[in-house]
Amino acid sequence: MHISVLLKESIDSLNLKDNSVVVDCTLGYAGHSSAILEKIPNGYLYAFDQDKEAIASASKRLEKFNNYQIINSNFVNLKDELKKLGVNKVDRIIYDLGVSSPQLDEKERGFSFHQDSRLDMRMNQDQELDAYYVVNSYDEKKLADIFYRYGEEKYASSIAKGIIRNRPITTTLELAEVIKENVPFSYRNEKHPARKVFQAIRIEVNDELNVFEKSLYQALDLISIGGRIAVITFHSLEDRICKRIFNEVSKIDDNLKNLPIIPLEYQPKFKIVENISPKGEELENNKRARSAKLRVIERIR
Ligand SMILES: C[S@@+](CC[C@H](N)C(=O)[O-])C[C@H]1O[C@@H](n2cnc3c(N)ncnc32)[C@H](O)[C@@H]1O
Repeated sequence: MHISVLLKESIDSLNLKDNSVVVDCTLGYAGHSSAILEKIPNGYLYAFDQDKEAIASASKRLEKFNNYQIINSNFVNLKDELKKLGVNKVDRIIYDLGVSSPQLDEKERGFSFHQDSRLDMRMNQDQELDAYYVVNSYDEKKLADIFYRYGEEKYASSIAKGIIRNRPITTTLELAEVIKENVPFSYRNEKHPARKVFQAIRIEVNDELNVFEKSLYQALDLISIGGRIAVITFHSLEDRICKRIFNEVSKIDDNLKNLPIIPLEYQPKFKIVENISPKGEELENNKRARSAKLRVIERIR
């Protein structure tokens, strides 16, 4: 069973009312969505996911509720999809980013370097770009750049060179082996040498950082006064985007700081409510929790 990281903390921090209108941008297997629906008997939930398999499982789990709608779309379309339904304001929005444990565990999805399968890594199975294309068609410079930027991999260029030499690379384990062969021996004993490159390819395939940034700005526009946005991230690249945007909208402009009174229209529209990492038992029980972070912001005017 998939256990969501920071589930209780994120639900508590949303401060739900029984009639809140909520958007879960990452339905997954409905851990958050079902906990939200328990708390909003007179409210409504819109839940996004781009993965049809996740939606099928989540629908079963949510059978007992009737005050929700699932939207099979990328959350980069947040505003447009809600507009189609006549929704221009919502009270709470949550993101629980990244891939779900079932996506990672399902061999055929090709996300894991522990199991052998065709290189895939698409969250949306209808999408054309997959990991096979990235690994076998991108030029060396582009690959190295992706490994460096999205994986913060210090051996990015020697790994990219190794990939070019060994093409075609068809499966996850073949790729993991090529990565291992192209890093220094000492590096092979730190975590798994393929971890960062797999993360980088996944981010590229799903355009994860760009869609999150675009969607988060839309979320800020959609949220009603008194409403909250909660974001759970799993790596520092996502977290940095969230932190930067939340700081941007909750800070007073430096040029105005010395004014005795700041006119209302220049005061920030948001305040930061929460910024926490998992502790104790959750860390012991869940490997994904290690790098997780929860950030919550509230619209104040
Ligand atoms: C970590 S899981 C969410 C788990 C969920 N909160 C739960 O409790 O079961 C992330 C889910 O979000 C989906 N997802 C990730 N990025 C997405 C995007 N840009 N648009 C729509 N869904 C996305 C993935 O397909 C995956 O099912």
